[in-house]
Amino acid sequence: STKLNIGLFGFGCVGSGLYKVLHETQQIKANIERIVVKDRSKKRSIAPELYGFDKAEILENPNINLVVELIDDAEAAYEIVTEALRRQKHVVSANKKLIAEHLDELIDLAKDNGVSFLYEAAVCASIPVIRNIEEYYTSDVLSRLEGIFNETSNYILTQTDAGKSYDEALQEASDLGYAESDPTLDVDAFDAKFKLCILVKHAFGLTVEPKDVFNYGIRHIKQRDVRYAKEKGLKVKLLAKAVKLNDKLLAYVAPHFIPADHNCYAIDNALNGVTVEGLFSDEQLFKGQGAGSLPTASAVLSDISALLYDYQYEYKKSNVLTDLSLTQDFKVKV
Ligand code: HSE
Repeated sequence: STKLNIGLFGFGCVGSGLYKVLHETQQIKANIERIVVKDRSKKRSIAPELYGFDKAEILENPNINLVVELIDDAEAAYEIVTEALRRQKHVVSANKKLIAEHLDELIDLAKDNGVSFLYEAAVCASIPVIRNIEEYYTSDVLSRLEGIFNETSNYILTQTDAGKSYDEALQEASDLGYAESDPTLDVDAFDAKFKLCILVKHAFGLTVEPKDVFNYGIRHIKQRDVRYAKEKGLKVKLLAKAVKLNDKLLAYVAPHFIPADHNCYAIDNALNGVTVEGLFSDEQLFKGQGAGSLPTASAVLSDISALLYDYQYEYKKSNVLTDLSLTQDFKVKV
Protein backbone atom coordinates (compact mmCIF):
# COMPACT_ATOMS: atom_id res chain seq x y z
CA SER A 1 0.00 0.00 0.00
CA THR A 2 1.02 3.61 -0.44
CA LYS A 3 2.21 5.93 2.25
CA LEU A 4 -0.49 7.77 4.16
CA ASN A 5 -0.34 11.56 4.15
CA ILE A 6 -2.60 12.71 6.92
CA GLY A 7 -4.66 15.85 7.13
CA LEU A 8 -5.58 16.22 10.79
CA PHE A 9 -8.62 18.18 11.95
CA GLY A 10 -8.41 19.16 15.61
CA PHE A 11 -5.49 19.44 17.98
CA GLY A 12 -7.21 19.07 21.34
CA CYS A 13 -6.96 16.21 23.79
CA VAL A 14 -7.05 13.43 21.16
CA GLY A 15 -5.41 15.30 18.26
CA SER A 16 -2.36 16.23 20.30
CA GLY A 17 -2.28 12.66 21.65
CA LEU A 18 -2.20 11.33 18.09
CA TYR A 19 0.65 13.69 17.21
CA LYS A 20 2.58 12.28 20.14
CA VAL A 21 1.92 8.59 19.49
CA LEU A 22 2.70 8.96 15.79
CA HIS A 23 6.06 10.50 16.64
CA GLU A 24 6.85 7.86 19.22
CA THR A 25 5.99 5.02 16.83
CA GLN A 26 8.73 5.08 14.27
CA GLN A 27 7.37 2.05 12.43
CA ILE A 28 4.34 3.44 10.69
CA LYS A 29 4.33 4.65 7.08
CA ALA A 30 2.20 7.71 7.78
CA ASN A 31 2.95 11.33 8.43
CA ILE A 32 0.92 14.37 9.36
CA GLU A 33 1.07 16.70 6.40
CA ARG A 34 -1.26 19.42 7.62
CA ILE A 35 -3.26 20.25 10.75
CA VAL A 36 -6.37 22.44 10.72
CA VAL A 37 -7.65 23.91 13.99
CA LYS A 38 -10.45 26.28 14.93
CA ASP A 39 -9.24 28.55 17.70
CA ARG A 40 -6.81 31.20 16.42
CA SER A 41 -5.95 32.52 19.87
CA LYS A 42 -4.75 29.27 21.45
CA LYS A 43 -1.00 28.76 21.88
CA ARG A 44 0.07 25.39 20.45
CA SER A 45 3.08 23.18 20.92
CA ILE A 46 3.49 22.54 17.19
CA ALA A 47 5.47 24.42 14.54
CA PRO A 48 3.37 27.30 13.14
CA GLU A 49 4.05 26.23 9.53
CA LEU A 50 2.36 22.89 10.18
CA TYR A 51 -1.12 24.24 10.94
CA GLY A 52 -3.77 26.57 9.61
CA PHE A 53 -7.43 27.46 10.02
CA ASP A 54 -9.10 26.78 6.68
CA LYS A 55 -10.50 23.32 6.00
CA ALA A 56 -9.64 23.67 2.29
CA GLU A 57 -5.96 23.43 3.26
CA ILE A 58 -6.62 19.75 3.87
CA LEU A 59 -9.64 18.92 1.75
CA GLU A 60 -8.25 20.52 -1.41
CA ASN A 61 -4.73 19.19 -0.96
CA PRO A 62 -4.27 16.34 -3.48
CA ASN A 63 -1.30 14.90 -1.51
CA ILE A 64 -3.47 14.18 1.48
CA ASN A 65 -5.04 10.74 1.16
CA LEU A 66 -6.27 10.33 4.73
CA VAL A 67 -8.36 12.74 6.76
CA VAL A 68 -8.28 12.19 10.52
CA GLU A 69 -11.20 14.03 12.07
CA LEU A 70 -10.80 14.69 15.80
CA ILE A 71 -12.91 17.76 16.41
CA ASP A 72 -15.68 18.00 18.87
CA ASP A 73 -18.45 19.74 16.93
CA ALA A 74 -20.51 16.99 15.24
CA GLU A 75 -22.09 19.31 12.65
CA ALA A 76 -18.77 20.72 11.47
CA ALA A 77 -17.40 17.18 11.50
CA TYR A 78 -20.25 16.07 9.23
CA GLU A 79 -19.23 18.67 6.62
CA ILE A 80 -15.58 17.68 6.84
CA VAL A 81 -16.11 13.92 6.75
CA THR A 82 -18.65 13.89 3.91
CA GLU A 83 -16.51 16.19 1.79
CA ALA A 84 -13.36 14.17 2.46
CA LEU A 85 -15.12 10.94 1.42
CA ARG A 86 -16.50 12.59 -1.72
CA ARG A 87 -12.97 13.63 -2.56
CA GLN A 88 -11.92 9.98 -2.22
CA LYS A 89 -9.83 10.42 0.87
CA HIS A 90 -9.92 7.72 3.56
CA VAL A 91 -11.39 8.95 6.83
CA VAL A 92 -10.63 8.02 10.43
CA SER A 93 -12.90 9.65 12.99
CA ALA A 94 -13.55 9.46 16.72
CA ASN A 95 -16.81 11.41 16.58
CA LYS A 96 -19.45 9.22 18.25
CA LYS A 97 -22.32 11.62 17.73
CA LEU A 98 -21.59 12.14 14.04
CA ILE A 99 -21.17 8.42 13.39
CA ALA A 100 -24.22 7.26 15.36
CA GLU A 101 -26.45 9.84 13.69
CA HIS A 102 -25.27 9.35 10.08
CA LEU A 103 -23.82 5.86 9.97
CA ASP A 104 -25.61 4.42 6.92
CA GLU A 105 -25.03 7.54 4.87
CA LEU A 106 -21.32 7.58 5.71
CA ILE A 107 -20.93 3.86 5.00
CA ASP A 108 -22.51 4.33 1.57
CA LEU A 109 -20.46 7.41 0.81
CA ALA A 110 -17.21 5.60 1.65
CA LYS A 111 -18.25 2.61 -0.46
CA ASP A 112 -19.32 4.70 -3.46
CA ASN A 113 -15.99 6.49 -3.41
CA GLY A 114 -13.86 3.38 -2.92
CA VAL A 115 -12.31 4.51 0.36
CA SER A 116 -12.32 3.31 3.98
CA PHE A 117 -14.07 4.92 6.90
CA LEU A 118 -12.81 3.67 10.29
CA TYR A 119 -13.71 4.78 13.82
CA GLU A 120 -12.48 2.38 16.49
CA ALA A 121 -11.68 5.35 18.75
CA ALA A 122 -15.34 6.42 18.78
CA VAL A 123 -16.38 3.46 20.95
CA CYS A 124 -14.66 3.06 24.32
CA ALA A 125 -11.35 4.51 23.08
CA SER A 126 -8.56 1.98 23.60
CA ILE A 127 -10.81 -1.08 23.82
CA PRO A 128 -10.66 -2.78 20.39
CA VAL A 129 -14.30 -3.70 20.38
CA ILE A 130 -15.46 -2.78 16.88
CA ARG A 131 -12.73 -4.68 15.12
CA ASN A 132 -13.27 -7.71 17.37
CA ILE A 133 -16.98 -7.74 16.62
CA GLU A 134 -16.21 -7.33 12.90
CA GLU A 135 -13.58 -10.06 12.78
CA TYR A 136 -14.06 -12.56 15.53
CA TYR A 137 -17.73 -13.17 16.19
CA THR A 138 -19.16 -13.33 12.70
CA SER A 139 -19.88 -17.08 12.75
CA ASP A 140 -21.34 -16.97 16.22
CA VAL A 141 -24.85 -15.85 17.13
CA LEU A 142 -24.46 -12.79 19.29
CA SER A 143 -27.11 -12.36 21.91
CA ARG A 144 -25.97 -9.47 24.08
CA LEU A 145 -23.71 -6.45 24.33
CA GLU A 146 -23.52 -4.75 27.66
CA GLY A 147 -21.20 -2.48 29.49
CA ILE A 148 -19.90 0.76 30.85
CA PHE A 149 -19.38 2.97 27.83
CA ASN A 150 -18.94 6.37 29.45
CA GLU A 151 -15.88 7.09 31.51
CA THR A 152 -17.04 10.44 32.88
CA SER A 153 -20.15 8.90 34.43
CA ASN A 154 -18.16 5.99 35.80
CA TYR A 155 -15.59 8.36 37.27
CA ILE A 156 -18.32 10.43 38.94
CA LEU A 157 -20.05 7.35 40.39
CA THR A 158 -16.78 5.95 41.74
CA GLN A 159 -15.76 9.27 43.24
CA THR A 160 -19.20 9.82 44.77
CA ASP A 161 -18.74 6.49 46.48
CA ALA A 162 -15.39 7.75 47.78
CA GLY A 163 -17.10 10.84 49.27
CA LYS A 164 -16.65 13.54 46.63
CA SER A 165 -19.46 15.79 45.51
CA TYR A 166 -20.98 15.44 42.06
CA ASP A 167 -19.69 18.85 40.92
CA GLU A 168 -16.18 18.21 42.17
CA ALA A 169 -16.03 14.80 40.46
CA LEU A 170 -17.39 16.19 37.18
CA GLN A 171 -14.81 18.99 37.26
CA GLU A 172 -12.06 16.42 37.76
CA ALA A 173 -13.37 14.33 34.85
CA SER A 174 -13.19 17.45 32.68
CA ASP A 175 -9.69 18.34 33.89
CA LEU A 176 -8.51 14.82 33.12
CA GLY A 177 -9.80 15.13 29.55
CA TYR A 178 -12.58 12.52 29.91
CA ALA A 179 -15.69 14.69 29.74
CA GLU A 180 -17.17 16.08 26.55
CA SER A 181 -17.01 19.86 26.17
CA ASP A 182 -20.76 19.68 26.72
CA PRO A 183 -20.81 17.27 29.69
CA THR A 184 -24.60 16.83 29.54
CA LEU A 185 -23.79 14.36 26.75
CA ASP A 186 -21.95 12.30 29.37
CA VAL A 187 -24.15 12.64 32.43
CA ASP A 188 -27.44 12.28 30.54
CA ALA A 189 -26.11 9.15 28.78
CA PHE A 190 -26.22 10.41 25.20
CA ASP A 191 -22.54 9.61 24.71
CA ALA A 192 -23.02 6.01 25.88
CA LYS A 193 -26.08 5.71 23.66
CA PHE A 194 -24.17 6.87 20.55
CA LYS A 195 -21.56 4.19 21.22
CA LEU A 196 -24.25 1.56 21.74
CA CYS A 197 -25.92 2.45 18.41
CA ILE A 198 -22.59 2.08 16.60
CA LEU A 199 -21.89 -1.33 18.16
CA VAL A 200 -25.41 -2.55 17.40
CA LYS A 201 -24.82 -1.91 13.70
CA HIS A 202 -21.65 -4.02 13.71
CA ALA A 203 -22.93 -6.78 15.98
CA PHE A 204 -26.50 -7.23 14.79
CA GLY A 205 -26.60 -5.54 11.40
CA LEU A 206 -29.33 -3.25 12.65
CA THR A 207 -29.32 0.50 12.09
CA VAL A 208 -30.78 2.22 15.11
CA GLU A 209 -31.30 5.93 15.29
CA PRO A 210 -30.11 7.38 18.57
CA LYS A 211 -33.46 9.14 19.01
CA ASP A 212 -35.18 5.72 19.15
CA VAL A 213 -33.04 4.44 22.01
CA PHE A 214 -33.94 5.23 25.61
CA ASN A 215 -31.26 6.93 27.70
CA TYR A 216 -31.27 8.03 31.30
CA GLY A 217 -28.01 9.17 32.83
CA ILE A 218 -26.46 9.60 36.26
CA ARG A 219 -27.19 13.30 36.75
CA HIS A 220 -29.79 12.55 39.42
CA ILE A 221 -27.91 9.85 41.28
CA LYS A 222 -27.30 11.07 44.80
CA GLN A 223 -24.69 10.10 47.33
CA ARG A 224 -27.46 8.38 49.30
CA ASP A 225 -28.22 6.10 46.32
CA VAL A 226 -24.58 5.09 46.14
CA ARG A 227 -24.48 4.55 49.93
CA TYR A 228 -27.68 2.49 49.82
CA ALA A 229 -26.14 0.28 47.14
CA LYS A 230 -22.99 -0.16 49.19
CA GLU A 231 -24.93 -1.23 52.27
CA LYS A 232 -26.52 -3.97 50.19
CA GLY A 233 -23.21 -5.06 48.67
CA LEU A 234 -24.15 -3.49 45.32
CA LYS A 235 -22.79 -0.68 43.16
CA VAL A 236 -24.52 1.85 40.95
CA LYS A 237 -23.25 1.70 37.35
CA LEU A 238 -24.43 3.31 34.15
CA LEU A 239 -24.98 0.37 31.81
CA ALA A 240 -25.59 0.40 28.09
CA LYS A 241 -27.36 -2.75 26.94
CA ALA A 242 -28.41 -4.38 23.71
CA VAL A 243 -30.12 -7.72 24.21
CA LYS A 244 -31.53 -9.95 21.50
CA LEU A 245 -34.93 -11.39 22.33
CA ASN A 246 -35.96 -13.62 19.41
CA ASP A 247 -36.42 -11.23 16.51
CA LYS A 248 -36.35 -8.10 18.66
CA LEU A 249 -33.47 -6.09 20.00
CA LEU A 250 -33.87 -4.29 23.29
CA ALA A 251 -31.43 -1.39 23.56
CA TYR A 252 -31.14 1.28 26.24
CA VAL A 253 -28.80 3.07 28.64
CA ALA A 254 -29.68 3.53 32.31
CA PRO A 255 -28.18 3.33 35.80
CA HIS A 256 -28.38 -0.12 37.42
CA PHE A 257 -27.70 -1.60 40.83
CA ILE A 258 -25.28 -4.42 40.14
CA PRO A 259 -24.06 -7.24 42.43
CA ALA A 260 -20.43 -8.13 43.16
CA ASP A 261 -20.39 -10.98 40.64
CA HIS A 262 -21.41 -8.72 37.76
CA ASN A 263 -18.76 -8.19 35.06
CA CYS A 264 -18.83 -4.43 35.58
CA TYR A 265 -18.60 -4.40 39.39
CA ALA A 266 -14.82 -3.97 39.46
CA ILE A 267 -14.76 -1.49 36.58
CA ASP A 268 -14.25 1.76 38.41
CA ASN A 269 -13.03 5.29 37.78
CA ALA A 270 -11.50 5.85 34.37
CA LEU A 271 -12.28 2.43 32.92
CA ASN A 272 -14.84 1.14 30.47
CA GLY A 273 -15.94 -2.46 30.09
CA VAL A 274 -17.77 -4.22 27.30
CA THR A 275 -19.31 -7.67 27.65
CA VAL A 276 -20.00 -9.54 24.44
CA GLU A 277 -22.11 -12.69 24.64
CA GLY A 278 -22.56 -15.23 21.90
CA LEU A 279 -24.26 -18.61 21.61
CA PHE A 280 -21.00 -20.52 21.15
CA SER A 281 -18.41 -18.18 22.62
CA ASP A 282 -20.37 -17.50 25.83
CA GLU A 283 -19.26 -14.32 27.55
CA GLN A 284 -16.15 -12.15 27.12
CA LEU A 285 -15.31 -8.99 28.96
CA PHE A 286 -13.15 -6.32 27.34
CA LYS A 287 -11.84 -3.81 29.81
CA GLY A 288 -9.65 -0.75 29.37
CA GLN A 289 -9.27 3.01 29.18
CA GLY A 290 -12.38 4.38 27.54
CA ALA A 291 -11.27 8.02 27.22
CA GLY A 292 -8.29 10.30 27.55
CA SER A 293 -5.61 11.57 25.24
CA LEU A 294 -3.25 8.65 24.64
CA PRO A 295 -5.73 5.75 25.01
CA THR A 296 -8.04 7.37 22.44
CA ALA A 297 -5.10 8.25 20.21
CA SER A 298 -3.98 4.60 20.39
CA ALA A 299 -7.23 3.55 18.73
CA VAL A 300 -6.83 6.22 16.04
CA LEU A 301 -3.28 4.99 15.48
CA SER A 302 -4.57 1.45 15.15
CA ASP A 303 -7.05 2.55 12.47
CA ILE A 304 -4.26 4.33 10.60
CA SER A 305 -2.14 1.16 10.73
CA ALA A 306 -5.11 -0.89 9.52
CA LEU A 307 -5.46 1.41 6.50
CA LEU A 308 -1.92 0.56 5.54
CA TYR A 309 -3.17 -2.94 4.80
CA ASP A 310 -6.37 -1.63 3.17
CA TYR A 311 -8.64 -2.70 5.99
CA GLN A 312 -12.28 -1.77 5.90
CA TYR A 313 -15.33 -2.76 7.90
CA GLU A 314 -17.61 -5.22 6.18
CA TYR A 315 -20.57 -5.07 8.55
CA LYS A 316 -20.77 -8.87 8.38
CA LYS A 317 -23.30 -9.11 11.15
CA SER A 318 -23.10 -12.11 13.44
CA ASN A 319 -25.14 -15.08 12.41
CA VAL A 320 -28.50 -13.49 13.13
CA LEU A 321 -31.06 -15.84 11.67
CA THR A 322 -33.88 -13.37 11.40
CA ASP A 323 -33.77 -9.67 10.73
CA LEU A 324 -34.04 -7.85 13.99
CA SER A 325 -36.10 -4.83 14.82
CA LEU A 326 -35.80 -2.54 17.79
CA THR A 327 -38.30 -2.92 20.60
CA GLN A 328 -39.36 -0.15 22.93
CA ASP A 329 -40.95 -2.64 25.28
CA PHE A 330 -39.29 -2.42 28.69
CA LYS A 331 -41.51 -4.96 30.39
CA VAL A 332 -39.13 -7.80 29.57
CA LYS A 333 -36.77 -8.80 32.34
CA VAL A 334 -33.13 -8.64 31.23
N1 HSE B 1 -16.71 11.73 27.24
C1 HSE B 1 -16.38 10.39 26.88
C2 HSE B 1 -16.37 9.54 28.14
C3 HSE B 1 -15.06 10.37 26.17
O1 HSE B 1 -16.41 10.09 29.22
O2 HSE B 1 -16.38 8.31 28.02
C4 HSE B 1 -14.76 9.09 25.45
O3 HSE B 1 -15.66 8.81 24.43
